[in-house]
Amino acid sequence: MKKGRILITGSNGLLGQAVVSIITRESDFELVLSSVEEKSNININQEYIQLDITSKEKVKKTVADAAPDIIVNCAAYTDVDGCETERELSWRLNVDAVKHLIIAARPAGAKIVHFSTDYVFDGKNGPYDETAIPNPISFYGRTKLAAENALLSSGIKNAIIRTMVLYGAGSKVKPNFATWLVNKLSAGERINIVDDQIGNSTIVDDLAYGTLKLIEAEKEGIYNIAGRDIESRLDFTFKLCDVFGYKKELIKTIKTRDLNQPAPRPLNSGLITLKAQSELGFEPMGTVESLQLLKYQLGY
Ligand SMILES: NC(=O)c1ccc[n+]([C@@H]2O[C@H](COP(=O)([O-])OP(=O)(O)OC[C@H]3O[C@@H](n4cnc5c(N)ncnc54)[C@H](OP(=O)(O)O)[C@@H]3O)[C@@H](O)[C@H]2O)c1
Repeated sequence: MKKGRILITGSNGLLGQAVVSIITRESDFELVLSSVEEKSNININQEYIQLDITSKEKVKKTVADAAPDIIVNCAAYTDVDGCETERELSWRLNVDAVKHLIIAARPAGAKIVHFSTDYVFDGKNGPYDETAIPNPISFYGRTKLAAENALLSSGIKNAIIRTMVLYGAGSKVKPNFATWLVNKLSAGERINIVDDQIGNSTIVDDLAYGTLKLIEAEKEGIYNIAGRDIESRLDFTFKLCDVFGYKKELIKTIKTRDLNQPAPRPLNSGLITLKAQSELGFEPMGTVESLQLLKYQLGY
């Protein structure tokens, strides 16, 4: 017998694809996939519904029709710099749409599993555990914190998973930090990498695995799920060079302020994952092990 029904939103994204993959392979849940595009990017035999979660009426109808026990919200506006200029659009997707999901989940009695970020912190004194006080310094961070607060005060069953520097392989997904590095370095291009942004990068397979553990353990509240090693972007890049066999001479070290990005970044960040390790049995991979997996997935 199936354990229950899960509706995934944003199933075409990097995380959405990984969550669908692990639930299909390693659990007994029935799945309904949905994303904003007309067609699913995932080549599996699962029901797919086109759903723009910024449409309150469509969300209500889809949730009522699908009657899920759990909604896993993998849809988001994830362009951190874009959020500074596209404030209305990013708020609609990252905050208002989460409120639409809450309204739709209530009569269905469904639980929402949602994803958040270390960008809810200012990066002055990381790494952070789940009880640390948020203080976002970018508009993206503010949208993600507002969604957390909407869920925490909603009165419906919910869990919030905070993660950071998410990377991995997927079908037709946007480049992420690791795949951008691979694209540039494999072409022999020189790149500038900051040495003053500290945190634990996360391979998407690990996050999806932690998410399934959280669902199976029926946990609620905030959980940090991220990679094992807390290090600078530069040290991550050097490890990637070692694993993929790229020349470190292509890398020039710079500071975050040299990039002049529209959104400020939390510098001294990182997420402490001890709660997920002890309560969910989540075992984060180290960077080298994760990059070896990525190398295999990319066919290098
Ligand atoms: N990426 C990171 O480094 C990072 C770090 C910390 C936390 N997170 C969080 O992790 C979660 C997943 O991120 P991700 O990296 O998997 O992002 P992603 O690859 O951009 O996936 C998001 C998906 O949502 C879809 N989407 C966009 N607008 C939509 C709408 N109106 N209705 C339904 N779906 C829509 C996107 O489609 P299009 O591609 O067509 O827009 C995309 O397929 C997000 O909550 C994010 O904030 C990410």
